[in-house]
Amino acid sequence: MTDYRKLFDLTGRKALVLGAGSGIGKASAEALAALGAETHCADLDLAHAEVTAAAIRGAGGKAAASRADASSGAEIAALVARAKAALGRIDIAVTTPGINIRKLVLNYSEDEFDRIVDLNLKGTFFFFREVGRLMVLQKGGSIIASSSVRATTIEPGLAVYGATKAAISLLVKGFAAEVGAAGVRVNAIAPGIIETPLFVLARNGAALDAESKLDAEIARCLAGFERGGTSQARHSYFERLVWYEKMRQEIHGIPAPHRRSRR
Ligand SMILES: NC(=O)c1ccc[n+]([C@@H]2O[C@H](COP(=O)([O-])OP(=O)(O)OC[C@H]3O[C@@H](n4cnc5c(N)ncnc54)[C@H](O)[C@@H]3O)[C@@H](O)[C@H]2O)c1
Repeated sequence: MTDYRKLFDLTGRKALVLGAGSGIGKASAEALAALGAETHCADLDLAHAEVTAAAIRGAGGKAAASRADASSGAEIAALVARAKAALGRIDIAVTTPGINIRKLVLNYSEDEFDRIVDLNLKGTFFFFREVGRLMVLQKGGSIIASSSVRATTIEPGLAVYGATKAAISLLVKGFAAEVGAAGVRVNAIAPGIIETPLFVLARNGAALDAESKLDAEIARCLAGFERGGTSQARHSYFERLVWYEKMRQEIHGIPAPHRRSRR
């Protein structure tokens, strides 16, 4: 019978995880190490990366930590050189850093657009290029990037974030076709909602501000709708109300205040 545990045994393998300080990256580093891989934990937040590496060592694994900015080509090149020097080779490379600014395209600033594209898309490109160059020379390896369900399923306020994630999915396909012959595999995970610190913060903290703004907008639209006016104006208020309602429910799962008051 096949020993299925051996299929997942990474003893002797070397892994690099960028974004290892939190959430999916932290879980990836811990999982790879638990399965036997010696793991280099990198993050912009060195203190958090060190906590992950220490937890791995505490559980009997091998891990070190270092700082790198995913949106800097020079820092990613230096990180890969550092990890290669420490580990000897890199068999598995995971990158997770990504940000989202939930806003309508009409309200996006160029700076906000650049921040998202620089980290999500350009950062993934830097990681692919630097790790890929090493793995092609090694003639083998596995690279895993972070896409999202938003690469395929979209809603208002997520167009720019979703566009970067869709671009990552295509970058994966194209890059995999380029390096596959050298034994290098390239994939991306596309999570739905994962309850990471980022998600919890958005739900419990930053979202409160967004909710109070939504409340104010909904109250304004309700007042406008009830004031009457032309049918075109009422229709416009109605459409915005439907949209705000949808946003509130899909983002936070919380009913709008005027619904609560009717109960
Ligand atoms: N959590 C979800 O529900 C979810 C859903 C779909 C896709 N994703 C994607 O998964 C990835 C990881 O998300 P997460 O929830 O684990 O996030 P997280 O915020 O919990 O972790 C991200 C980590 O990346 C690090 N980081 C941020 N900017 C960096 C930079 N410039 N350079 C290096 N490190 C940096 C942070 O310090 C943090 O440790 C993201 O790309 C996100 O878009 C998450």
